[in-house]
Amino acid sequence: MAHLQVIALDGPGGVGKSSTARALADRLGYFFLSSGSIYRAIAWSALRRGWRRGEPLAEGLLDEVRIDVGAGDALRVDGEPIAERLGSDAISEATSLLSTLPDVRELSNRVQRATVAGIAEEGRYPGVVLEGRDIGTVVFPQARHKFFITASVAVRAERRFAELTRTDPALTLEAVTRALQARDERDSKRAIAPLKPASRAIVIDTSSLSADEVVEAMLREIQGEA
Ligand code: DC
Repeated sequence: MAHLQVIALDGPGGVGKSSTARALADRLGYFFLSSGSIYRAIAWSALRRGWRRGEPLAEGLLDEVRIDVGAGDALRVDGEPIAERLGSDAISEATSLLSTLPDVRELSNRVQRATVAGIAEEGRYPGVVLEGRDIGTVVFPQARHKFFITASVAVRAERRFAELTRTDPALTLEAVTRALQARDERDSKRAIAPLKPASRAIVIDTSSLSADEVVEAMLREIQGEA
C-alpha cells in the first residue's frame, strides 16, 4: 500500500459525509469508500435473515455474508446489488445497533482494509477517500490526511429530513431529530471505536458552509501540505 494516499473523513450521521467524501474523491481522482454502507450492508443481510432488535445475530451470518465494494455505488451482498436499498430509517436504526457489536466491526474493518489493499494492488487510483466514524481513530490511523466534519443537530436533522421526505412524505422533522440524537448518543458512547475526532484530525464545522465550501476547505488543507 506504499503509494496509495488514504484520506480519512469521519463525523456524525446526517452531516453530509458521504456526499462530501464522494465529491472530494471525484476532485482528486481517488476511489471513494463508505464504511457506513458496509455496516448498512451487514444490517441489511441480518434483517433479511430475520434478525430483530434485541436478538443475537444468526449463527454463521458474519462468516457467510459476502460483501463486495465496487467503484461508485456497486456494493454487492452475496452477489446482489443493494446500494440503492440501504438508506431507509429502518436500516439506519438496525445499523446503529449492530455496529456496536465487536464481531460486526471486525468484519467491516476486514472488508475495508481488503478493499483498500485491492485498490492499491490494482494501481488504477492514486488514493482513496474513506468515510465513517472511526477511520482516523481505528481503521486507518496512519491516514495521510484526517478530517472530522460536524454540524449542529438541528442542521443535520434538517438536511436528513429534506433527503428522506422525498421517499417518505409522512416523516416529521421531530421524528428525524429524535432518531438522529439517539444514534449520536449510541455512536459516541459505545465502548468500541466511539465517534470522536482522531489525533491529527482537522475539525470542520459545516453548519454554515455549503457542500462545495467544505470540499474546497479540505482541498486547501490537502494541497497546502502536498
Ligand atoms: O454513515 P452512515 O449513516 O451510513 O452509518 C450508518 C451506521 O453505521 C451509523 O449508525 C454508525 C455506523 N458506522 C460505524 O459505527 N462506523 C463507521 N466507520 C461507519 C458507520
